Amino acid sequence: MSMTVRHAIILPTLLVLSACEGRHNWLSGAGREASQIETLFWPLVFGAAVIWLLVVGLAIYAFRCAPEPETEGRARAFVLWGGAVFPTAVIAALLVSGLLVLRGIAAGDGEVTIRVDGEQWWWRVTYDTPEGPVTSANEVRFRAGSRTEILLTSDDVIHSFWVPALGGKIDMIPGRENRLLLTPETVGDWGGLCAEYCGGAHAQMRFSAIVMPPGDHADWLRAEARPAAVTDGPGLEVFLSRGCGACHAIRGTPAEGQVGPDLTHLAARTTLGAGVLPMTQAALSDWITDTGRVKPGVLMPGYPDLPEAELAVLLDYLMALE
Ligand code: CUA
Repeated sequence: MSMTVRHAIILPTLLVLSACEGRHNWLSGAGREASQIETLFWPLVFGAAVIWLLVVGLAIYAFRCAPEPETEGRARAFVLWGGAVFPTAVIAALLVSGLLVLRGIAAGDGEVTIRVDGEQWWWRVTYDTPEGPVTSANEVRFRAGSRTEILLTSDDVIHSFWVPALGGKIDMIPGRENRLLLTPETVGDWGGLCAEYCGGAHAQMRFSAIVMPPGDHADWLRAEARPAAVTDGPGLEVFLSRGCGACHAIRGTPAEGQVGPDLTHLAARTTLGAGVLPMTQAALSDWITDTGRVKPGVLMPGYPDLPEAELAVLLDYLMALE
């Protein structure tokens, strides 16, 4: 086999396999809907492979073996059955089975409701609790085994909410509320992303999709509903004097901005800047001093001239917001 042919086979295979790996693996079976969609996928792949082999085999037979011409009647019957009846029957069967699975996926109500608003370029996430709505950002936490209704909209342009491993993707459209039902089953951080081009930082619009055991989820939601752990001190003073509170809210403090992500429990999140950085003090420092370098086009300005002493107390404060 020549190198070119080998590369022609290996490269696409690697590309295909890389899409099936890790937290974005859409064949993970991590949710009920993902498993249901998988039951459609494999018969489709094997069926298509069988038909492809059959057609290519027939073509090779016709060209290479140069059989005697068929009678006109047999040729017509072959075209009618092979070219019209068979494809119509196969496509009709696929349509019916696809519609049945989709109807099962979209039917019914959720036991849990989560609202997600698309923003340029991050996610505003609101949980319904008996005590009222609780807002967070860039992290959707699911209760394992519960059918979850996700209500999706957008504040600016069209985004698309996609958690590949849970089998769910739907557009987020300004002025319209779309609904997605997901039943995550396997505990883990599966990760999600924006699947509709929405501007410069589209590729940096990601989120964590964390499936938690029910007990842990209840504890986490109770903690998330509480006001900030620290509501005074020099770090908060810097935060307020530099105007951060105009865009960000920290519940329990005078910071009540609604433009950017709620920071009440910032340090309890796993990532920063909508999935682009790990949640560490060093990354937070990089982010605040030069947001545009980390995420070009981001609406939050960088603060490269913040005196070191102010930055230090600000970082200490934000990292204490667990
Ligand atoms: Cu939001 Cu792409």
